[in-house]
Amino acid sequence: MEYTLQPAERALFWVGALITASLALWLLYKIITGFRIWVLGNGDLLSPKLGKWAVVTGATDGIGKSYAEELARRGFSMMLISRSQEKLDDVAKSLESTYKVETKTIAVDYSHDDIYPKIEKGLAGLEIGVLVNNVGISYSYPEFFLHIPDLENFITTMINVNITSVCQMTRLVLPRMEARAKGVILNISSASGMFPVPLLTIYSSTKASVTSFFSDISGRNCFRKLFKVACIKQSKVKLVVPLF
Ligand SMILES: NC(=O)c1ccc[n+]([C@@H]2O[C@H](COP(=O)([O-])OP(=O)(O)OC[C@H]3O[C@@H](n4cnc5c(N)ncnc54)[C@H](OP(=O)(O)O)[C@@H]3O)[C@@H](O)[C@H]2O)c1
Repeated sequence: MEYTLQPAERALFWVGALITASLALWLLYKIITGFRIWVLGNGDLLSPKLGKWAVVTGATDGIGKSYAEELARRGFSMMLISRSQEKLDDVAKSLESTYKVETKTIAVDYSHDDIYPKIEKGLAGLEIGVLVNNVGISYSYPEFFLHIPDLENFITTMINVNITSVCQMTRLVLPRMEARAKGVILNISSASGMFPVPLLTIYSSTKASVTSFFSDISGRNCFRKLFKVACIKQSKVKLVVPLF
């Protein structure tokens, strides 16, 4: 005996079918994107065609140093920014000899907020294709908010290094990318910014701010995109979320 669906069942059937179809499309999109990025690579997309120079903050160690090496490998001239001039010179020398690229350095301490005129001067006249907002600090050990030693300075330092640097560096670089209609900005956030992390309260909230800044500023670019397609065509602000 044939069973015919009741109207309510038919509605639920179509809701289920739509949800399944959209999940399947989302999964397919993710697989294709993963294949494009991890198997095919992005080839010419991130190349000096975007602009001769790449700027990396916190470029002498960890993730920042790896970005500096990869961007130099792709042929970018490198502007390296960190605190210690000695470490900057070592990394610059190594990039120059390994990848035969031009390098420049700026030694500044991002925990201070009066450094931006010096950075602006150092960046003057450079055609910047990529900015990696990488510099960031975390706790030396997890601790409850009120138990952190020298809490007042700790707060100011972490906000200056993790948030102010991202906003100010973007302020210095984005207008020139917009004017040339080319450029990529990578903001290095953290998985700690995606969830409450009670023993890393200040770090976690500064990284949540980086994530929010990314959404807001890329939203602005998308908004402009609607009206000035040519202007912003190759301009991208991207968020990178390592763990912790
Ligand atoms: N490593 C992870 O597991 C992880 C996970 C999630 C997110 N992240 C994020 O990824 C980014 C890089 O982390 P990382 O672990 O690779 O860092 P890292 O190894 O500690 O390297 C820090 C870099 O930043 C520079 N730096 C530190 N304090 C500075 C200051 N006050 N002024 C100027 N430069 C300063 C250091 O240079 P000097 O030594 O010369 O000061 C060094 O080049 C950060 O934004 C971090 O929050 C990291």
